[in-house]
Amino acid sequence: MKVFKKTLNLADFLITVKNKKQTIGFVPTMGALHQGHLSLIKHAQQNNDITVVSIFVNPTQFDNKEDLMKYPKPVDKDILMLKNIFCDVVFMPSVGEIYTNDIQATSFSFDGLEHQMEGKFRKGHFDGVGTIVKRLFEIVSPTNAYFGEKDFQQLQIIKKLVEKHNIPVNIEGRPIFREEDGLAMSSRNTRLTKEHREVAPFIYETLKKVKENFGIKNVDELTSWVYKEFEKHPLLNLEYFTIANESNLKSIERIVPDQKHRAFIAVFAGDIRLIDNISLSKN
Ligand code: PAF
Repeated sequence: MKVFKKTLNLADFLITVKNKKQTIGFVPTMGALHQGHLSLIKHAQQNNDITVVSIFVNPTQFDNKEDLMKYPKPVDKDILMLKNIFCDVVFMPSVGEIYTNDIQATSFSFDGLEHQMEGKFRKGHFDGVGTIVKRLFEIVSPTNAYFGEKDFQQLQIIKKLVEKHNIPVNIEGRPIFREEDGLAMSSRNTRLTKEHREVAPFIYETLKKVKENFGIKNVDELTSWVYKEFEKHPLLNLEYFTIANESNLKSIERIVPDQKHRAFIAVFAGDIRLIDNISLSKN
């Protein structure tokens, strides 16, 4: 496995790949890799000639300094995990390599997608994501790039980013990878206390009940039911729950036939913020 820290060295290597007309599959990550990342990487390996994984904890997408400081960085473990699955290339730039002297995000318009859900609670987050993903796409020029559906809003925003900026890459969203008890895999799960880890599957259990009752109960009833369930919960604090249209991410008041709907949730388990979502399509 090749490990690059410098953009120029990676670019040199990728020129030889492109000259051979090989396809490049790209999985951008912030490290602290888990099975969810590995499943994205394996999918990339099956569908491309070369797979590039980036590990970069992007400072401009954190609206909370403490979350950035405490973000897990098990670099050696990550490299070992990537070697074990025969990943071809890992790109691990420093902050200076990406941002030079100015650690600032560019301001983007994603046609309103950025104002929904996470956008309301994490100011500037999607400008940070847009900035780093655009920069990484410029460096890697991947054929295909893969993102998990746990960050469904991020996935839609990245599709919008490439559409608006004419970036020639195919974006593929992949299903959420879950722990056996249903908790969506996330690098932040390792920071949960034992108590919070034990109760965290309640989030997905609630989403599954919403799906079961979608169409039987109306949107208002389902939403108030979820808020009440979390009010009763001693350890989990609901930040938001909403049922939204999958393509524009706007909350819906009633079910619109022929449109795809999805339920989205953000919950604090102590200091750790967890997000999850579920498709409400019947299949
Ligand atoms: O989903 C993530 O891990 C990050 O937001 C991403 C896409 C790697 C950009 O930093």
